[in-house]
Amino acid sequence: MKLRIINGPNLNLLGTRQPEIYGGQTFKDYQELLEKEFPTVEFSYIQSNVEGELINAIQKAATEVDGIILNAAAYAHTSVGIGDAVAGIATPVIEVHISNTFARESFRHQSYISKYAKGIIVGFGLQSYKLAIASFISSD
Ligand code: DQA
Repeated sequence: MKLRIINGPNLNLLGTRQPEIYGGQTFKDYQELLEKEFPTVEFSYIQSNVEGELINAIQKAATEVDGIILNAAAYAHTSVGIGDAVAGIATPVIEVHISNTFARESFRHQSYISKYAKGIIVGFGLQSYKLAIASFISSD
């Protein structure tokens, strides 16, 4: 199974950005953990701070992988274009957030992606990604 993790703005700063909210681990270190834990999955990763690049990445992934794990970060709350990109592809997308967005400011309670996602996993720290992967590979 091929899975692509697409990370949005500021997630390149994981490890140093507001560690009280997002933890102290870099995403690169976490990737190594994922690869060890799910040896049958072929992972690929993209991070961009640019909305249009994320839309291009979603469209491209739709023709290349079996599933997408998308943390659009702040754009989840603002981007009709990213929501439309997810709506426009047949490849399943799981929306993830590291923090519990519903326990934070009200502008984070809205997501333009959720309606079109296969499922949503929020608030489990970096483990949110692991739970999304487990759901993709589970046959139950
Ligand atoms: C986030 C939550 C968003 O509200 C925020 O803008 C982010 C990260 C998360 O993973 O918790 O940048 O998507």
